[in-house]
Amino acid sequence: MTLKPVSNEKNALNIPVIAAPADSGALHSLKPYKSLEADELQSRIEAVRKHFGDRLLILGHHYQQDEVIEHSDLRGDSYQLSERAASSTACETIVFCGVHFMAETADILANRPQKLAEREGRRITVTLPDMAAGCSMADMAGIRQVEAAWADMSEVIDTERVIPVTYINSAASLKAFCGRHGGIVCTSSNAQAVLEWAFERGDRVFFFPDQHLGRNTALKMGIEESEMPVWDPYQLELGGNSDEAIEHSRVILWKGHCSVHQMFRAEHVAGFRKQYPGIKILVHPECPREVNDLADVSGSTGKIIQTVRNSPAGTKWAIGTELHLVNRLKAEHPEQEIHFLSPVVCMCATMYRIDLPHLCWTLENLRDGVVVNKIEVEEETSKWSLIALERMLAVK
Ligand code: 13P
Ligand code: SF4
Repeated sequence: MTLKPVSNEKNALNIPVIAAPADSGALHSLKPYKSLEADELQSRIEAVRKHFGDRLLILGHHYQQDEVIEHSDLRGDSYQLSERAASSTACETIVFCGVHFMAETADILANRPQKLAEREGRRITVTLPDMAAGCSMADMAGIRQVEAAWADMSEVIDTERVIPVTYINSAASLKAFCGRHGGIVCTSSNAQAVLEWAFERGDRVFFFPDQHLGRNTALKMGIEESEMPVWDPYQLELGGNSDEAIEHSRVILWKGHCSVHQMFRAEHVAGFRKQYPGIKILVHPECPREVNDLADVSGSTGKIIQTVRNSPAGTKWAIGTELHLVNRLKAEHPEQEIHFLSPVVCMCATMYRIDLPHLCWTLENLRDGVVVNKIEVEEETSKWSLIALERMLAVK
């Protein structure tokens, strides 16, 4: 098959941008990569990294499997990775080993007008090694649903005084909605500061898509659960709430959750405390309230890592977050006793789609002149999303 560039457009590495849906448009097809041994994939990945040097930046989220993380230039939580993308200057291509919303955020931040001007118009190309690496939580709030909810609640409350806050785990269209309506983005590491920012500007917050992060954060700020109605987009009237509940609300929570973190239960905490006296419970705030309330520490993936790193040898932990991160912490901290806070496997199946074959396939196509799985947020959406993201980056 002859591949045609989609336009005269070239990416930063002077490579013509070719429409490459999944595997079909790629110069090298994905299939043979799947039967290669890990050793070979690793050395081929390293050869491409060497070939591009500083012009290529591989970002890896903490939930990635070890074999992928080993090839990343930087690993971090969602906030750290977006800051890194925002400050990119030397690199020409970002290969994002994470999930779709993270790559979208990287594209918006790395290619914002100020950065483009500094680079004389040169865009940084962002790619995601597997387009199926989405986030089930992000998919729980669609822009049409959020717009419909906003219109519905405006029948009961003054939405001019409602600040929409989207968790970074959301599509760019939702970030753009927040940008347009005086709202902001948050991550799990700055959710409280962002809510404080919001309450300085409005009377209420509309928080989506993760009800747990919204609730756990607002509870810490002294807001009562009774002031946090849950908006179910599949209910016809006011998301399943009475007029009074919405009028009385301080935070309206979208009915979304993370399929990984909802697996952790209060009984798991009780079981560990009973079996290992003195054990400390460390969880991600996407866990349900019952678990979060019982934990000794709750925080982003970055905070979880820091907490373990800064603890004395011999500390016992039961950690409630994605399995790959917990297993890596176990391997990196043999001086501590680390358990996974669930008897069942809780791993992020979509993050896990990024593997060595996909990474090697993406990189070798790039080296040989084809950008596969390019993530480029449409201009208008990007413009409004950026407003909400920049508000977040300015919150300290
Ligand atoms: P962090 O922001 O803590 O990295 O978490 C991202 C995420 O998707 C957790 O499920
Ligand atoms: Fe999304 Fe949950 Fe996976 Fe995080 S762990 S990327 S919230 S599905």
